Amino acid sequence: MAQIYSRIMATGSALPERVLTNADLEKFVDTSDEWIHSRTGIRQRHVVVEGETTGDLATLAAQRALDAAGVKAADLDLIILGTTTPDIIFPSTACLVQHRLGANGCAAFDVNAACSGFVYALGIADKFIRSGQSKKVLVIGAETLTRMVDWTERETCVLFGDGAGAVVLEASDEPGIYATCLHADGGHKELLYNPVGVSVGFKDEPNHGVRIRMSGREVFKVAVKTLDSLVEETLNAAGMDASQLDWLIPHQANLRIIEATAKRLNMPMEQVIVTVDKHANTSSGSVPLALDFAVRSGKVKRGQNLLLEAFGGGFTWASALLRY
Ligand code: COA
Repeated sequence: MAQIYSRIMATGSALPERVLTNADLEKFVDTSDEWIHSRTGIRQRHVVVEGETTGDLATLAAQRALDAAGVKAADLDLIILGTTTPDIIFPSTACLVQHRLGANGCAAFDVNAACSGFVYALGIADKFIRSGQSKKVLVIGAETLTRMVDWTERETCVLFGDGAGAVVLEASDEPGIYATCLHADGGHKELLYNPVGVSVGFKDEPNHGVRIRMSGREVFKVAVKTLDSLVEETLNAAGMDASQLDWLIPHQANLRIIEATAKRLNMPMEQVIVTVDKHANTSSGSVPLALDFAVRSGKVKRGQNLLLEAFGGGFTWASALLRY
């Protein structure tokens, strides 16, 4: 029997309209554009307004991907949505989006792998397609991370933004996704986490204690080291070497982390998609937003090899090597 691959038919993305620049932040937190840009590469981020949700952004990104693919929502047989900031506790945001798209009846679920959520979701979707279980799958990464940002804490509030991206995958005889690698190490929980929730309980603090806690310098070090070995592993799993890659589409958390990974791969920055300057860290939204930007701007072309990678709280880390 011929090998089945999952192939990206089309991409879509969505950002909140409201933009918060570093200069805007300077007005209410003790920071500067110079500090933020030199350490992270970030110039601005998109931020949801009151009432705007992860599901809103996810639905818009998904509809744009479906339109570009020429696929009707009713033809989907699976929806997987990576998010750490679901609209409500349940039903899953994937179910909310499914209904709004009119795809009722197909399987739909969320994946919480922090910033690796979209790449995890892509890896899972690929397995469903390869096994012959699904033919058309919608994979979304969507977040409203600014909902858990403490705007008085300069160490974290400057880093994050909101947004969503989506891809429509189809079963194909041609590659396709060559390899995906998914990993986690819960031993690093304390370095990047949000310690409140339904089962543990909420705190008697502003926003019920819902707030990102992060040891930035430690996260930075582990991220660089982990991504180094992840890209090696992914190339090996796909049976390729770095010279066969056309584009690196990394998680957009910090330009210096991105540059370190590119250096490891011997790839010039001209072959790296960078959106962190405009979007900041949108967690699960980051990789599919960067991918959609790269596709719609004409940078990424059919037949090119893309390496997607992400790293996030957990820690989790994940990658996909695919031919677009
Ligand atoms: N504006 C101005 N100064 C700030 C600041 C801000 N927004 N945030 C922190 N500082 C100060 C600190 O208080 C510290 O001051 P001190 O030297 O007087 O104590 C100083 O800047 C340096 O802090 P440091 O932590 O050494 O900076 P850094 O070079 O490590 O950069 C990060 C900090 C957070 C940008 C960087 O560590 C990082 O990006 N880490 C990874 C975070 C990440 O990507 N998380 C998500 C992973 S998915």
